Amino acid sequence: MSINIISTGSYATDEILDNESLSKMVDTNDKWILERTGIKTRHIAKYNTTEELASKACERALKDVNIDKDEIGLLLFATISSDTKVPSSSYTTAGHLGIENAVCFDVNAACSGFIYSMTIAKSMMKDMNYKYALVVGSERLSKFIDWTDRSSCILFGDGAGCALLENSEYKNELLKGKNNSKVYEKQDEYLENEVSNNLIKLEIKDAILGGIYDKKKYLTVDSKDKVSDEVSPFIEMNGRQIYKFATDIGVKVIDKLLKKNNIKNEDIAMIVPHQANKRIIQTLAEKSNLGIEKWFINLDKYGNTSSASVPIALDEALKNTYLKESRGKYLLSLAFGGGLSYGGILFKIK
Ligand code: COA
Repeated sequence: MSINIISTGSYATDEILDNESLSKMVDTNDKWILERTGIKTRHIAKYNTTEELASKACERALKDVNIDKDEIGLLLFATISSDTKVPSSSYTTAGHLGIENAVCFDVNAACSGFIYSMTIAKSMMKDMNYKYALVVGSERLSKFIDWTDRSSCILFGDGAGCALLENSEYKNELLKGKNNSKVYEKQDEYLENEVSNNLIKLEIKDAILGGIYDKKKYLTVDSKDKVSDEVSPFIEMNGRQIYKFATDIGVKVIDKLLKKNNIKNEDIAMIVPHQANKRIIQTLAEKSNLGIEKWFINLDKYGNTSSASVPIALDEALKNTYLKESRGKYLLSLAFGGGLSYGGILFKIK
């Protein structure tokens, strides 16, 4: 039995905020931002909700495959910036997309949200026998940014990404088929899909999740509903401590995933990390002995988009690189962030 990513999508609005423009808002400059973070631009969604960004990313993923939306059994939405509380962003997005039969819920694990959600989706798809699941990461972090704080406003951006997962075991049940024209109709569609689809698939082989309670409050965004007068509705961060946490835990996640699955460094074709900071990625590459050329980086364009960062990067990696030559090898993805949460996921490239 395998659970595979069969399609991905991503979306960010056309409103771009570059370092030059930021330096007119706060006391900073392009050189400082580039050297310390690697970020050149970020997308700001002034006129779209978090759910709208997500819907556009999902539409792109669904456009590339010929599936029946009624067979999407699960829609998981990783976010810290949903625009409504009830219904959850997952339901709102299902509504936008015309998905009617899915179990929907949101996952808040900050920047690790997409990795957490993929892991939950894998288990639920097996246990509940869902044929397809949509896993989305979408954020409009700009609403949490203090545009007078130069230490944080340079780092974050808005965007959305998603992965469509398919449960290979479901096919067997379909193939058992009953003498029922509806079932046969879907079965034919399924087989047609299988044959015509020579796109790369990523099979989820293993995942590691973890967390440490952030008692010293290194990374927080308060809710206006907090039962206290001390509320900061902005992203508050101790950059140095988060940097240490990320570089320390990131190496441990990689090491554990490789050892647990008996995989050597040379079997890893690509690493798609959370896009927080280029220096964090460079440190991880050095410490894990996985050459920097294997790390997919697009944070220069988007900045840190929290839950959306890994699925946007995955989408661009699958569409813009030559992973077909790496079939049989592995792709590793990892994330870390508020909570403090962390996680890693290992895919086989098929
Ligand atoms: N432009 C210019 N100068 C800035 C600045 C900016 N945008 N932000 C801070 N500075 C200044 C500071 O005021 C400080 O000046 P001082 O030495 O006169 O006091 C100096 O630059 C160094 O600040 P510091 O905060 O120590 O810089 P740093 O090297 O730690 O880099 C971060 C700051 C935020 C880039 C870095 O800590 C980081 O990337 N941390 C991880 C953040 C992250 O990825 N978070 C999300 C994870 S999910």
